[in-house]
Amino acid sequence: MNTETKIEPRLMTEEADFLQIKSVDHVHFYVGNAKHAMYYWWKAFGFKPAAYSGLETGNRDFASYVLESGQARFVISAAYTPGNALAAHHMIHGDGVKVIALEVDDVEKAWQATTSRGGKSGWAPREEKDDFGIYRTSAIYTYGETLHVFVDRADYKGVFAPTYTPIKNKEAQSTGLAAIDHIVGNVQLGKMNHWVNFYHQVMGFRQLMHFDDKDISTEYSALMSKVMQNGNGRVKFPINEPAEGKRKSQIEEYLDYYLTPGAQHVAILTGDILETVEKLRRNGVEFLRVPDTYYEMLPDRIGKIKEDYKTIQELGILVDKDDEGYLLQIFTRPIQDRPTMFVEVIQRHGAQGFGKGNFKALFESLELEQDRRGNL
Ligand code: FE2
Repeated sequence: MNTETKIEPRLMTEEADFLQIKSVDHVHFYVGNAKHAMYYWWKAFGFKPAAYSGLETGNRDFASYVLESGQARFVISAAYTPGNALAAHHMIHGDGVKVIALEVDDVEKAWQATTSRGGKSGWAPREEKDDFGIYRTSAIYTYGETLHVFVDRADYKGVFAPTYTPIKNKEAQSTGLAAIDHIVGNVQLGKMNHWVNFYHQVMGFRQLMHFDDKDISTEYSALMSKVMQNGNGRVKFPINEPAEGKRKSQIEEYLDYYLTPGAQHVAILTGDILETVEKLRRNGVEFLRVPDTYYEMLPDRIGKIKEDYKTIQELGILVDKDDEGYLLQIFTRPIQDRPTMFVEVIQRHGAQGFGKGNFKALFESLELEQDRRGNL
């Protein structure tokens, strides 16, 4: 597809990958105390602190740390003063994902293509320069106040972006986290299809799969979900909306505390989930636990797998399978005080799904926690 041609939404086909996104470049969290959050991702999750920006590097606006584990790159930032935009964002949302940055070849084309299709501009294409080259970005809004920043670092040889300086004295004990698998957005009741259309029409994604309230419901609550994927399959964004249930759904609880739609969880791939979860638990990461009855049925439901079922149960890992293989996954408790964002750790053995067979058990354990918070 020629990206220079303006494409009317009605002419788009399922295959129109006009953005040519290469991968998720980074996920940028706005938090209340970047130094503490950096320490958490470093010591608990085993991410390597790679770069810093702040007063000492000429950044008068915010303190910021870049952390990496495998190909997963997180940026953690906090405001210095209350008048800063980061402070305003944090005041409303608490800690959370502000930016899901996407690497492209041409930020100008990406911005033109998306804003001409109805995407709301975050900022027009801009260049930041220093001794290491030119760092190019542009941005559009997605759900809530979340941004997709398009990044072109082809002419930038510095550590992350201008004002960032390498961190050299902080080694990390890796937990094996290797790359971002998917990032889920929570949107309001009735808005899922709006955002599915946004990813399709504005960004050229196509729908990979969907789950309705029959797939994802418990006695109390339900949700619906559709998974959007970019052209090369490396960027997957499931979109959740609450569905009618007897009590408040986990998505509504999120929206009550984040106050707008936003990123619900970031799923990170590992090549050895047993080892990763064992290390994360030892480092103090808290995970949701499903009832032990889940494990009684598991070998019959899944069949023979490489991993030991007893260890899987001890670590609280969940297993699901589809036509292409199986996957192992586990979910943390919220990683900040507000019951908003959490992390998923996932290992795939062929399966391309998201753990549909685990949804019911998982949501029942989520509701137990919601009840403890007085929010069910
Ligand atoms: Fe997930």
